[in-house]
Amino acid sequence: MAIQYNDQHHIFAIQTQNSSYIFGFNEKGNLQHLYWGATIAIEDCVPLLRSSSHSSFDAEVDREVEEYSFWGGLCYTEPALKVRFHDGVRDLSVTYIDHQILEENGKETLVIRFKDQHYPLETHLYYTVIPEYDLVERSAKIINRGEDCIVLESTQSASWTIPYLQDYRLTHVTGKWSGEFQLRSTLLSEGKKLLESRRGFTDGHANPWFAIDAGDATESHGEVWFGALAWSGNWKIVAEKTVFNHVKVTGGIHDFDSEWVLEAGETFEAPVFVGGFSSGGFGQMSRHLHHYQYDHVLPSQQVRKVLYNSWEATYFDVNAQDQMALAEKAAKMGVELFVMDDGWFGARNHDRAGLGDWVVNKQKFPNGLNELITKVNGLGMDFGLWVEPEAVNPDSDLYREHPDWVYHFPTRGRTELRNQLLLDLSKPEVKRFIVDFMTDLLQNHQIKFIKWDMNRTITEPGLKDHPLHRQKEIWIRHVQSLYEIWSELRRKFPQVEFETCAGGGSRIDLGIFRYADQAWPSDNTDAFDRLSIQEGFSYTYAPKMMTCWVTETPTGMNRRDVSLQYRFHSAMMGSLGIGANLNEWSDEQIEQSAEFIRQYKQIRPLVQAGSQFRLSALKQKGLTAVQYVHANGSESVLFAFLHSQKLGELLPRLCLQGLQSDKQYVIDQLPGTYSGRALMNVGIVLPLRGDFDSLMYRIQESK
Ligand code: GLA
Repeated sequence: MAIQYNDQHHIFAIQTQNSSYIFGFNEKGNLQHLYWGATIAIEDCVPLLRSSSHSSFDAEVDREVEEYSFWGGLCYTEPALKVRFHDGVRDLSVTYIDHQILEENGKETLVIRFKDQHYPLETHLYYTVIPEYDLVERSAKIINRGEDCIVLESTQSASWTIPYLQDYRLTHVTGKWSGEFQLRSTLLSEGKKLLESRRGFTDGHANPWFAIDAGDATESHGEVWFGALAWSGNWKIVAEKTVFNHVKVTGGIHDFDSEWVLEAGETFEAPVFVGGFSSGGFGQMSRHLHHYQYDHVLPSQQVRKVLYNSWEATYFDVNAQDQMALAEKAAKMGVELFVMDDGWFGARNHDRAGLGDWVVNKQKFPNGLNELITKVNGLGMDFGLWVEPEAVNPDSDLYREHPDWVYHFPTRGRTELRNQLLLDLSKPEVKRFIVDFMTDLLQNHQIKFIKWDMNRTITEPGLKDHPLHRQKEIWIRHVQSLYEIWSELRRKFPQVEFETCAGGGSRIDLGIFRYADQAWPSDNTDAFDRLSIQEGFSYTYAPKMMTCWVTETPTGMNRRDVSLQYRFHSAMMGSLGIGANLNEWSDEQIEQSAEFIRQYKQIRPLVQAGSQFRLSALKQKGLTAVQYVHANGSESVLFAFLHSQKLGELLPRLCLQGLQSDKQYVIDQLPGTYSGRALMNVGIVLPLRGDFDSLMYRIQESK
């Protein structure tokens, strides 16, 4: 049993393969967090279960470590639930009803039910255990069992209490358009550190996950506590340290400008916030999260195909002829999925018009899309298409017909970003419009892949025709509708795979990955810049879900010139794609690319299903090295990139990870055999030289 209950002491324990998560009811009836870390027994926690106080100013210090902070009474830390009742009372005072341990699909879930002592409000806390990866999925359901409505002012998914540490180092990512997923770390002092999105989607400025360690964890050693939130709209994660040295991390849907009205009999469900403990450093944290995504989150287990995307080749200037020419070249290289990006519909000749008019542009495609699709299929590739269903250009037939379909405030202007506005997804007719045009598209064409984009944040968040007291529901309604649309489309078209994109990596989170098979992490396709973006992405998200394109050199963005090999190696670390203008590539470049794609297909099972090890030991020397290892340690691939080298500064040997000590291995391009022990402890010399050099080594057990 992963979930245990000691009814003498009223203590719950969640036991995973290598961790224990323990909490119980203290003598005041508060659900108090007790322990999270390496495996212990439930009984070990009995002495920890007691309330404490310091003075009348800190009368209930134990409430700082409440499993789920109900705002009311003496709750002064970040609340998990804050409500307003119909009579103006805003104080929660709850008691335990009961608990249940459920089992579904082989997973155990603990549900603990609470009710308010006076008002008909119930809260159900959920804990689903993923024992093999030392993870717990938490969420909460709030139910109105009465007649009067209740306003939810803040409904967080969970609070994670971190055990006492000498120091608390918070690791997270920050970023911007074309520079997403940049790693940062900071020591927490008393007070709060807020990570958030208030832009309507997940956002590239931050990403909803955190990791905390004592400041001494590395890629391969040390204890790390972490969590990631499954929500694609406004979110917040608050890391809070109190003066009594309690640190908890509370997260969920952002409460900024947000409320949800629970009518009689209604339930509100907070999104899943998964948390975990790693005793093997940040590397093990990431590997557990990656495999959790493969096994429990992603909508399918399919291999990700090598794709071609037309965006950087033709931008809006798409037409049947050019796309067919590109497709021929792509097929020669071994591409498996040909994706046509923006520009194929309406008057979409630039980003100022046409968005919202989802009819094929007859000038560009006189015989419809099927001519191109037939050609692509004839070349042995699947066909994919770009759409951005949530947005509209004011210069479009859709907007001229339905100017009221966008979010707006009647007395304010409508801010345009990339010349577009956002459709109000809370309107049933808007939702239907999107489902209908997508259904039409997918029913009448052999489309196997959709790149779903979203190129602006939400402004003027007004919901026309929505009751005044429910206006602040917009942030949640947008996401709920989006999930409903994706879920309906996936149900209707199980053969179609989806990529999440939002001007690059602004909508990447565990919520969207229940519907999306892969993600576009950044519009920055520079192979060197991508290394840090991909590293930050990999802290939380799996390599299989990370689309990486090989594009032109010098790159359009920062004029950097790097070799074809370097560009391929950088992109082969995720789900490989090509995004260059192949119509201008020489036969030699096509042939060389075909060889890299052939190599990628050989190592693809390792990259897309194996375990990833970030080898950070030589980072200070300008080396980025990442290894992917088969589950049984019999095979591995190493990618290494040297930024630049000063004269006489040779690289120290690089130690590998994840192999079997006693096995013998051969490395292609190197003579001899090596024991796993030697490779992991003595290491290998990497013959990288100069600037922007790279290599890929395949390491296989010698038979
Ligand atoms: C966004 C995406 C790009 C491309 C363009 C098309 O910027 O991130 O990859 O699809 O839109 O307009």
